[in-house]
Amino acid sequence: MEKFLVEGGVRLAGEVTIGGAKNAVVAIIPATILAKGRSIIENVPNISDVSILLKMLTEMGASVNFINKTTVEIDTTHITNPVVSYELARHLRASYYFLGALIGRCHKASVSMPGGCHFGVRPIDQHIKGFESLGAEVNIDHGMINAKVRESLTGSHIYFDVVSVGATINVMLAAVRAKGLTVLENAAKEPHIVDLANFLNTMGADVRGAGTDVIKVHGVDIMHGANYTIIPDQIEAGTYMIAAAATFGDVLVKNVIPKHMESVTNKLIKTGAFVTEFDDSIRVCRSDKIEPTTIKTMPHPGFPTDMQPQITAMLTMAGGTSVITEGVWDNRFRYVDELARLGANIQVDGKVAVVQGVPLLTGAPVKATDLRAGAALLIAAFMAKGATEIEDIYHIERGYENVMDKFLNLGAAFKRIEAPDTELPAAAL
Ligand code: EPU
Repeated sequence: MEKFLVEGGVRLAGEVTIGGAKNAVVAIIPATILAKGRSIIENVPNISDVSILLKMLTEMGASVNFINKTTVEIDTTHITNPVVSYELARHLRASYYFLGALIGRCHKASVSMPGGCHFGVRPIDQHIKGFESLGAEVNIDHGMINAKVRESLTGSHIYFDVVSVGATINVMLAAVRAKGLTVLENAAKEPHIVDLANFLNTMGADVRGAGTDVIKVHGVDIMHGANYTIIPDQIEAGTYMIAAAATFGDVLVKNVIPKHMESVTNKLIKTGAFVTEFDDSIRVCRSDKIEPTTIKTMPHPGFPTDMQPQITAMLTMAGGTSVITEGVWDNRFRYVDELARLGANIQVDGKVAVVQGVPLLTGAPVKATDLRAGAALLIAAFMAKGATEIEDIYHIERGYENVMDKFLNLGAAFKRIEAPDTELPAAAL
């Protein structure tokens, strides 16, 4: 078991370059199987979620070859085994995107119920509703989600009861190969949905309206492999922006799309940070105290739930009381107990956290409870006086490429240490 040992009290400064978007690439890798052919994907982040999805592809019969560190060639000519096993699916939520893609290509799929971060119940009813509406029969048996198209995959009008990133992506993946028109209403609008639609269109699909709440998909018979560059990771960028603001630092965050960062930028400015936008980079610095604020997470373009733990970490040292409302997940405050070990004063009542700023955090042993919680603990550890040991860092490395090197380049003081196994790691979620 590895841990991070962080020496806090450092002001982060310098430049950091953001990698490709995790939540886009985890949809685009499964999408490659919609064509029989070769795709080349660039700006692929070096994270464990990507390695696992590529392993799933090879188990299905595809061939995968890294041309360089961030460019992967995927040949999906031969897909012989439309199955994703529990062994791999338990690691990440996005493994279920193979359902939509396999339904589109093979008219059948068998994917183990996926893992992913624990934020309370994570239903998949909207995915199933969408697949059934397109003509697939879906059942869950012994932990496997099995789908089969008995007659034909046919376009349909689907209204999602909740705004769901996963359901929008999954149903879009199947619909691109259905006969006729599919209309997805109340669709999610995140940048990675637009990125997936752009990739699908480059492969010969006909998807319109991605980025709005109505997406129209005209099904096509044939798709082909494509060359594509993944967009920069909005959440990785936001994490470095908040880390800069939290440590009274001065960081230029490069390779970002400033438009995607607007909700985070606005909140940082509200807390007294200085944020300057350039064409494809953003500079964040702070010289004055952290002002408290009010935040409610919402689907895009609202403040992203995936930035909620990181900004809460920063607000633990604000000069007053902040109120954070989680508007997407039922239970995304599990990490608060870990921040409390560092001296944070946070009261949680259901989906609302009240953060009373304290003058000082002090280092302590803590545990990452999920990916973004891990990022929040890193930020808090940089702010704290003394040493913090962060356990279960595999959560962080699921979604942040070269996280240690990137923060070391900004002046952070930390290292990876081997810790004796005191217990078996729970499934990497
Ligand atoms: N929901 C349903 N039924 C469904 C699907 C979702 O009720 O069939 C509900 C969920 O319970 C939740 C809400 O809808 O309350 C939104 O869930 P959504 O489906 O949008 O989330 P997701 O697709 O499972 C993705 C990201 C998450 C991010 C959320 C929200 C990926 C791989 N994951 O999850 O990212 O928090 O959207 O933006 O894209 C992360 O990167 O750390 C992460 C957790």
